[in-house]
Amino acid sequence: MKIKTHNTTPYDDQKPGTSGLRKKVKVFQNANYLENFVQSIFNSLDDFQGKILVLGGDGRYFNRRAIQVIIKMAAANGFGELIIGQGGLLSTPAASNIIRKYQAFGGIVLSASHNPGGPDEDFGIKYNVGNGGPAPEKFTDALYANTKTINSYQIAEIDDIDLDTIGELSLGNLKIRIIDPVADYAELMAKIFDFDLIKQSIAAGLITLRFDAMHAITGPYAKQILEGQLGATPGSVFNAVPLEDFGGGHPDPNMAHAHELTEIMFGANPPVFGAASDGDGDRNMIMGANIFVTPSDSLAIMAANARSIPAYAKGISGVARSMPTSQAVDRVADKLSLPCYETPTGWKFFGNLLDADKITLCGEESFGSGSNHVREKDGLWAVLFWLNLIARKRQSVADIVHEHWEKYGRDIYCRHDYEAVDSDIANGILENLRSQLNHLPGKSWGDNSVKFADEFSYTDPVDGSVSSNQGMRIGFDNGSRIVFRLSGTGTVGATLRIYLERYERDVRKFDQDAQVALAELIEIAEQLCEVKKRTGRNGPTVIT
Ligand code: G6P
Ligand code: ZN
Repeated sequence: MKIKTHNTTPYDDQKPGTSGLRKKVKVFQNANYLENFVQSIFNSLDDFQGKILVLGGDGRYFNRRAIQVIIKMAAANGFGELIIGQGGLLSTPAASNIIRKYQAFGGIVLSASHNPGGPDEDFGIKYNVGNGGPAPEKFTDALYANTKTINSYQIAEIDDIDLDTIGELSLGNLKIRIIDPVADYAELMAKIFDFDLIKQSIAAGLITLRFDAMHAITGPYAKQILEGQLGATPGSVFNAVPLEDFGGGHPDPNMAHAHELTEIMFGANPPVFGAASDGDGDRNMIMGANIFVTPSDSLAIMAANARSIPAYAKGISGVARSMPTSQAVDRVADKLSLPCYETPTGWKFFGNLLDADKITLCGEESFGSGSNHVREKDGLWAVLFWLNLIARKRQSVADIVHEHWEKYGRDIYCRHDYEAVDSDIANGILENLRSQLNHLPGKSWGDNSVKFADEFSYTDPVDGSVSSNQGMRIGFDNGSRIVFRLSGTGTVGATLRIYLERYERDVRKFDQDAQVALAELIEIAEQLCEVKKRTGRNGPTVIT
């Protein structure tokens, strides 16, 4: 195998965000852009010679091209074995599982998650470490530093590899294995959940379901598991073929983007259960007939009912949620005397807690939930959790949710996103907010009186690392909260996220529409951050 060293010059914009490096495909197509980043990953790693690297992506445009480049660079840099999903496909949670199962050194996952795909849309690349989880900040900081000084990269001069045929081949000292992307994952799911029970409930007609794969990676996984193994009617999984441009859609499982599913679930004769997942399969949206379950409620309900699931039947060690996620799960933890951690946004912050067995379940408002079975959030896992729960309880989704609220109260919740805001305006908004924080405690609007106002900072209880400037929190005496932060995953301008939450204990008020119930807080948020005033917009781009 001939290895060539190419000279290159650094790019100054390769700083990984919340979840790896995400840019327009066109940016990745700039000379050596991908190569620089991949070599910088390898330059930031120690002692990987001869070891295993897992490789796969969500199938979006540029996935195949990028995989071929990475294979050649991994070969040149001295990995011993590459495990690659057939067709270059692996969902993010499946990649995490494979890294763990085959004790790989790490993995490279190609995805821009829920961002649109295609020649004019987004691409992304992230590195996962040996525990199967996203690389910690210490690594991504070192990686970024490397991207700023890189002056050469190494690549093997070999032909493109056939990604579509399952099997093994050797190139010099390098072994390449093309594997079925679904098999290991399906096996893991069958160990966690009671497949027999779910299968019986489906066969008996107690559970009918629709799953929207949004033309993204979960199509093949959901087809095999939900239809193949659990016996859901063929066609229950729709938009099931992964497409390079996701059929022109935005593969983000929320009611704004998964509108086909939303129409089915709020239409005539809806099925018992509905769900969707995102581009790379780590997000989930859970719905029942005429009901949408917020991700924050979903996490709380899973925590409260974990013992109904075989893998968690002995109990869970603790729970965690990202800071902007509602406090619903805190109430469950409190009642069950479980430790509950509040982490910054980003799945990577759960990794240490999971590794140290301080938590078993975790989740985020951004449509992510998961457990210690892998080190990524897992869309289909959440779907199977709910199916298992419905089968066990023999209740509708709406009944499960209402029963939960009756016991714990309801944390009425929503998020307002202002997308593609001019970066200077967005920074001005944050500066203005920051300057008010010290003066807010004690200030009141109606019965909302500010208890605390701060900029969230997190000290990891396992390794002591500190992450500061993770968003601004304003907490009120009555338990309400408003949180402001800038998204770390956007690719155009800045996205301001405003998270709003109010605690309701009065059963008669549970069925209020969130926008109505939160109207007062929405108004307070605008007074504080002036986003409408400063951007001249009438309202948020997306409400979830
Ligand atoms: C990705 C990460 C999540 C994070 C989400 C929102 O999906 O994996 O952990 O919560 O992005 O991030 P953002 O910075 O856009 O709010
Ligand atoms: Zn994703």
